[in-house]
Amino acid sequence: MADTTLMDKLVSLCKRRGFVFQSSEIYGGLGSVWDYGPLGVELKTNVKDRWWRAMVHARDDIEGLDAAILMHPKVWEASGHVSGFTDPLVDCRQCKNRFRADDPRIKGKPGQPDAQCPVCGTRGSLTEPRMFNLMFKTFMGPVEDSAAVVYLRPETAQGIYVNYLNVLQSSRQRIPFGIAQIGKAFRNEITPGNFIFRTREFEQMEMQFFVQPGSDTEWFERWREWRMDWHRSLGLTPAKLQWHQHAGSELAHYARAAFDIEYQFPFGWQEIEGIHNRGDFDLSRHQEYSGKKLEYFDQAQNQRYIPYIVETSAGADRVALTLLVDAYREEEVEGETRVVLGLSPSVAPIKAGVFPLVKKDGMPELATTLYHELRRQFTCFYDDSGAIGRRYRRMDEAGTPFGVTVDGETLVARTVTVRHRDSMQQERVGLDRVGEYVRERL
Ligand code: GAP
Repeated sequence: MADTTLMDKLVSLCKRRGFVFQSSEIYGGLGSVWDYGPLGVELKTNVKDRWWRAMVHARDDIEGLDAAILMHPKVWEASGHVSGFTDPLVDCRQCKNRFRADDPRIKGKPGQPDAQCPVCGTRGSLTEPRMFNLMFKTFMGPVEDSAAVVYLRPETAQGIYVNYLNVLQSSRQRIPFGIAQIGKAFRNEITPGNFIFRTREFEQMEMQFFVQPGSDTEWFERWREWRMDWHRSLGLTPAKLQWHQHAGSELAHYARAAFDIEYQFPFGWQEIEGIHNRGDFDLSRHQEYSGKKLEYFDQAQNQRYIPYIVETSAGADRVALTLLVDAYREEEVEGETRVVLGLSPSVAPIKAGVFPLVKKDGMPELATTLYHELRRQFTCFYDDSGAIGRRYRRMDEAGTPFGVTVDGETLVARTVTVRHRDSMQQERVGLDRVGEYVRERL
């Protein structure tokens, strides 16, 4: 399948089955902003749950946090975002389009007479590059003047740094320890695209691990390994995951070292998570700008220091897209094309479809009772319309790992057919064991 076709097919399936819709679609949409439908919100919630369990609940050394999106504007001066979170942009005076100065489609050097606009083709119409800040601005309070400017956070990390002492003291943690947070972030991206890969509003799953200076490299290596293991545990194809190390020139202003976990998308190898050694950059800057001491007193060593930070930063939307791309497949079955989302059962939006084979002989009643019992334990979908093969296919497209059918045998032997999405194999399971059977396989 050609790569562009795969993305087109996936976008269409996401809309058809209710994973992802264009934001404000009835008004023509809003650029690179997307809404999650009934199946999409389940998928993304499962991704976030799995992350939260691995990062917070399964560990004694990480605490959770939910900081506000709006923060004091000085935070973004201290973080370096006001001065440094910029992209160079050029405008075409002819067609009024705007591009990143390093857009590979631009021929020639922007600002020079021979430079050519990639959209209208006019020569000499591109302006000199100007720096453009990617943060969204808004105003706090009733007056819209420069004193009232606040930003929509471009990363969740800063909410963690400014709360680090609050969390440390209230949770009675000691260094090394971490703070984890999931939340929305906003970036006025100039070249967004590839569906939900790069959007202007997205969710981050970030964890900042505070360590003693000198132990940062060791922790950095540990976190690299743990994060890669987590992505593999979602069932992603291992050969489609790789590391990309940031060269010196690529490093963000805060980073001493950085590695990306990349996935091989149809549009190339791209970052899904970044692991950064941020040193003491953030806490030192917040200490300087706020005038508040952010040092840690290490009792065991009778030493005061500003902790170093190892950050793991993943996009929930990007991980959801990775799962969808990795799971999508088409197969020929009995002369028909079967579309399957082979999602790992743990992230699949619906865990089981429940079907009466026919709408008579008491099967709908039994299936409805079973459905109500199962939905107390995991997400289920009841479907009694159309041929059973069609109902299975609909669940295959939604990524549902198990199909449970109440049939003639159920009435006699109190067993149901459990059909497996990937192998399409069927087996008989006792009516009173279905819940346990599915749960064991999630
Ligand atoms: N706090 C560090 C930080 O924000 P980043 O590499 O800019 O680092 C981390 O972003 C992760 O956030 C990325 O790996 C990606 O998964 C996600 N992300 C960043 N920008 C995004 C965007 N415009 N749309 C969707 N996800 C994005």
